[in-house]
Amino acid sequence: MKLYRVLQSQGFGSRKVSVARIRAGEVAVNGAVCDDPEAEFDPAALELALDGVSWPYREKAYVLMHKPAGYECSHHPSHHPSVFSLLPPHLLQRGVQCVGRLDQDTTGLLLFTDDGQFIHRMISPKKGVAKVYRAVCADPVTDAMLEALRKGVQLNDEPAPIAALACEPLDVRTLRLTLAEGKYHQVRRMIGATGNRVEALHREAVGHYALPADLAPGSWRWLEADDLKQLEQPWPSAMS
Ligand code: URA
Repeated sequence: MKLYRVLQSQGFGSRKVSVARIRAGEVAVNGAVCDDPEAEFDPAALELALDGVSWPYREKAYVLMHKPAGYECSHHPSHHPSVFSLLPPHLLQRGVQCVGRLDQDTTGLLLFTDDGQFIHRMISPKKGVAKVYRAVCADPVTDAMLEALRKGVQLNDEPAPIAALACEPLDVRTLRLTLAEGKYHQVRRMIGATGNRVEALHREAVGHYALPADLAPGSWRWLEADDLKQLEQPWPSAMS
């Protein structure tokens, strides 16, 4: 791949910008400055540095964010700032999208990628990738409520009742709910269908990958190969 294309693919700007950066001597390859935008390299075996900072080449971008409350998962938010405003320009330039959406007041694990097939694998109910939520309810969590969520509750516009993959109380008003799907407002609607109401909602995990405890709200981080494996591992009972 030509060097200017490598830069473009990593989100460092248009062809023109990439060519100019290379010509200006800002780019080093395998330890030496390369000022030829047309120089050919195998991107997978490339040690790239921009302005002296090393940059591992990533064919696709996989990123997680600790979504803070008060941000919308939209490029055109209506009432709150966009989660995309928390990402750096190189990820926006690559065109990363949210993998499913969280409501503006929901916090927790939110994924972004520029890999459309990955988005499909993560959100298709057939793939069995679970989403794990912690919900604080307005009223106490009862055994009847847990039973209803495990057996299935009927939501408006759904052909059949939807059951949680797992459901456990955490304290008097808090429960952990594990779902196979990601339908619109699904947790709020399921809990609403039991006669209770969600007051606060946090996504703890996707698949077998939990939000890292040291990732502050509003921060993001790259996902590495091992993280992706944990994310895509199906929930055993989702596949039965
Ligand atoms: N279910 C909801 O109701 N809201 C979310 O943000 C995510 C799942």
